[in-house]
Amino acid sequence: MTEPANQPTADAPGFPRIGFNLVFVPGDGIGPEVIAAGRRVLEATGRLFGFRFEWQEILIGGVAIDAYGVPMRDEDLAACRDADAVYFGAIGDPKYDDPTATVRPEQALLGLRKGLGLYANLRPVTVQPVLRASSPVRESLLEGVDMMIVRELTGGLYFGKPSGLRAGPAGREAVDTLIYSEEEIRRVVRLAFELARGRRKKLTSVDKANILSSSRLWRTIVEEVRPEYPDVTVEHRLVDACAMTLIQRPAVFDVLVTENLFGDILSDEASVLAGSLGMLPSASIGERQTAHGLHGMYEPIHGSAPDIAGKDIANPLAAILSGAMMLRWSLGQNAAAVAIERAVTAVLTAGYRTADLLSATGDATGLRPVGTQAMGDAVVAAIENQEHTAAEDGERATALSGGSR
Ligand SMILES: NC(=O)c1ccc[n+]([C@@H]2O[C@H](COP(=O)([O-])OP(=O)(O)OC[C@H]3O[C@@H](n4cnc5c(N)ncnc54)[C@H](O)[C@@H]3O)[C@@H](O)[C@H]2O)c1
Repeated sequence: MTEPANQPTADAPGFPRIGFNLVFVPGDGIGPEVIAAGRRVLEATGRLFGFRFEWQEILIGGVAIDAYGVPMRDEDLAACRDADAVYFGAIGDPKYDDPTATVRPEQALLGLRKGLGLYANLRPVTVQPVLRASSPVRESLLEGVDMMIVRELTGGLYFGKPSGLRAGPAGREAVDTLIYSEEEIRRVVRLAFELARGRRKKLTSVDKANILSSSRLWRTIVEEVRPEYPDVTVEHRLVDACAMTLIQRPAVFDVLVTENLFGDILSDEASVLAGSLGMLPSASIGERQTAHGLHGMYEPIHGSAPDIAGKDIANPLAAILSGAMMLRWSLGQNAAAVAIERAVTAVLTAGYRTADLLSATGDATGLRPVGTQAMGDAVVAAIENQEHTAAEDGERATALSGGSR
């Protein structure tokens, strides 16, 4: 992807501004709070780099059931398909938790993934050095942690049929089906190899091949694709052992690829390394190319956290970092993505902490405890600060080169 140059004068009259059409899905619980902060950060980045966003806000999840009686309307799925990308908060509401309910907010999430063909979920896990103390894992083990978890997103147990509750010979029984076609496995494995090639060239494939047929096919496909990437080292790990290694020696992983359910669980486990679920962004991408990049959906990995909703205490950084992933993967704006990531590091280094990032004892010595909005403001200010620095650098460069003013 081409990296755009810094353009601190983007708002100048006549300045050409690229426009991006985004669908904005606040969702339920803390979704609207964290994603509003992310939107403000994206807008600030647009001002700095010379692009603008057209936002189309839609209701999906519990709020859509309340408004329309369904978790997602067909026209809203179509809007997501037509947009350059989808920026998503979180969905889920305890009032729809009844296990016998036939309409649930989470159905929209599965519908979006399938309907948009988002077959791969990318979940980068890095540990900000200043947050090592926020993790319950010993600090020495967190040195060098930098992995990309690639979770298959449209197959496996979450979509296999039959699925449901039924009457069996000995009373009620329930069934879920774990099924994968070789093509479903191959495309996500290939993507993972590509990612490994651009990183430290190590791929860990996670399965349960000692028990599951689907895992044996998974392992076979990885071995079939492997010769195409002779520069990438491959290892296979069983999911149970991998779950332990993720905590015992997390720095050994580079790219980790796995099926839907294993990826869901392992990536939540990995969030413990980063200090909080509120730190981990994600990208769900498909095969379709738009004018700017791959079509995709961007959301924090956490859920709607109803226990803390409406209190202005949720950590918005996962949502903000998901915005950076959107700029990189779907909008072709790598430099702007880097600017957001730098701004997040800057505010953490300056001591800003939402409640989840404070130590269990609540000791905030030397830190600046903030709420959701204030954390968003701090990141916006850090972006604007980069703008000033870039402008000053420009002036300095002009002066040093003896250029006219
Ligand atoms: N992609 C999604 O929209 C998604 C993902 C997972 C769960 N869910 C749904 O979310 C609802 C709640 O699920 P859950 O409680 O198991 O998971 P959750 O991720 O919402 O919350 C787990 C714990 O982490 C905390 N937490 C989560 N995000 C945080 C943040 N940004 N800042 C600070 N603390 C944060 C919560 O307070 C809670 O204690 C359920 O309805 C579930 O189905 C939705």
